[in-house]
Amino acid sequence: QITTSDFTFRCESGGQAEPARAGHFRTGHGEVLTPAFMPVGTQGTVKGITPVQLRDIGPQVILGNTYHLGLRPGDELVARLGGLHRFMGWDGPILTDSGGFQVFSLASMRKMTEDGVTFQSHVDGSPQFLSPERSMEIQRNLGSDICMALDECPPGRMERTKLEFSMARTTRWLARSRAVPLQPYQGLFAINQGGTHLDLRRRHLAEALELDARTPFQGFAVGGLSVGEPKEEMNAVLAEFVKELPADRPRYLMGVGTPEDLIFGIEHGVDLFDCVLPTREARHGRILTSKGRLNLKNARHREADRPLDPDCACYTCRTFSRAYLHHLFRCGELLGFTLNTIHNLSYTVELTRAARQALLENRFPAFAQSTRAGWLTEEP
Ligand code: GUN
Ligand code: ZN
Repeated sequence: QITTSDFTFRCESGGQAEPARAGHFRTGHGEVLTPAFMPVGTQGTVKGITPVQLRDIGPQVILGNTYHLGLRPGDELVARLGGLHRFMGWDGPILTDSGGFQVFSLASMRKMTEDGVTFQSHVDGSPQFLSPERSMEIQRNLGSDICMALDECPPGRMERTKLEFSMARTTRWLARSRAVPLQPYQGLFAINQGGTHLDLRRRHLAEALELDARTPFQGFAVGGLSVGEPKEEMNAVLAEFVKELPADRPRYLMGVGTPEDLIFGIEHGVDLFDCVLPTREARHGRILTSKGRLNLKNARHREADRPLDPDCACYTCRTFSRAYLHHLFRCGELLGFTLNTIHNLSYTVELTRAARQALLENRFPAFAQSTRAGWLTEEP
């Protein structure tokens, strides 16, 4: 049931000088309506929920990880079993990250060379090697709809000259990634680095666009943000840079973020986001709501016969009281993780869907303002 993909970004929001935009593009596993938040399914599962529950939440795309799935169970096994979609029981679009970021955050004994990165598996300590070619091979075997080129992920505050060296290598890796054939329906996105230096980001983009002129990329991502730099610096770069990415291709802000970050990103022209925040916070009993965040552990929820968020239509909010969810959390019951995850993901996906609707109806600024005002309510 794989169809032809067309990653051309079709803008649907009216005659825009504004960078904010709503639109769509088509993958081999269906259309993606943007702006969109992609839930993270690192190991071939969005932690704590079933694909049926995920379908009900309604994300446009989900994310998987080359690093994890390549190590365990192995991309060749997944390919033999019919690809990642079939393996995990999700027939919607999947984006896979290339593994660069994960090698940096999870693996030990990393050794970078021009060829690739040698590291010790965080699973069993075995020696591993990841190169642009190997990352593409894993993603081809997994059969994801959107593949990410392998990049070096510099930490938030790297010295400028070191950062420039790292980016030059990422550009060379981009050319090598581009040269590897994928399955016909798969798209390849380039990742832009450059920290919070606008001039470095521009130069890196110019290099990517040179490659793009020969063999186009299907989308462009902004990486290397939300990695320890001050939020104002991240926002300053986004405000200037996102609008310079090609308008006819999807724009993806990697690893971001909070509900506040999503509104800011959308305002400045981002189409796609992913972040572990909604799912991870859910497992710690931290709940995102239209009135701000709340902590389920708090004793004030012990007898509260009301939903997490009265403005949320998710299964959790339609069915259960805060008192019940507080009880499950206190007992460490598995269902608590599941119900909190359903809510936090529903809230986040719905936020991007509502932003899309507001863009289509030419009322995004008012939507952004009222959404932000809602978060300021004390004690949700
Ligand atoms: N996830 C969050 N940031 C990044 C990044 O800079 N590169 C990659 N590959 N993944 C990311
Ligand atoms: Zn809810």
